[in-house]
Amino acid sequence: MLFKQLFENESSTYTYLISCPDKKEAVLIDPVIETIERDLHILKSLGLKLTHAIDTHIHADHVTSASALREITNCKVAGPANDNLKCRDINFRDKDSLTLGASLEIKAFHTPGHTDTHFSYVLEHNKRKILFSGDALLIDACGRTDFQSGSSKELFNTIKKFFYLMPDDTKVYPAHDYNNKSCSTIFHQKKDNLLIDYKINLKNFVQKMNDLKLDKPKKIDLAVPKNNKCGS
Ligand code: FE2
Repeated sequence: MLFKQLFENESSTYTYLISCPDKKEAVLIDPVIETIERDLHILKSLGLKLTHAIDTHIHADHVTSASALREITNCKVAGPANDNLKCRDINFRDKDSLTLGASLEIKAFHTPGHTDTHFSYVLEHNKRKILFSGDALLIDACGRTDFQSGSSKELFNTIKKFFYLMPDDTKVYPAHDYNNKSCSTIFHQKKDNLLIDYKINLKNFVQKMNDLKLDKPKKIDLAVPKNNKCGS
């Protein structure tokens, strides 16, 4: 498997490139419009064919490049079915999977809380799980729940009853990081995530999330309508 973690500075977004070695097919998870030229250049330089542009959710802080990538590469645009986007070619239901080449399977899971339709994706490589957690679980943090149909209670359940039941050595790759961190594991998040470690109960978590008092994302009024059209 070829794997690249790519970063977009303005929105601190991670885009993930995953490719199978046999057919040289590739997917991008959470691609950003600002970095489309970089991503196309990487695909071309590695001789990869982009088959899918996949979003974890309707982003509020940046515009997806999914639709632009489809126009240029003829890839399919994929994301959660419950977003009800007519612009998508593939609409994931909980536990759907997508096969890449002959050997890679990306499984899609409904992981609500940051938004009610949010999905995460899981890949198994060398007998180790890799979790692309979107904005549900960040490194030593988690996605906000105060807009876009977010719910702290649902996010608590997603993290505690799904993510934290995954094997301890599962690698966690989030959609954002604001502190120069790139990867964690379920073991470290259960132990070190001060917002939601293994000791935190629902009541503490809801209180902590209510206390965050975050500013409105700068691009939300532009990004959400555009992302509802897959970025076009
Ligand atoms: Fe988000």
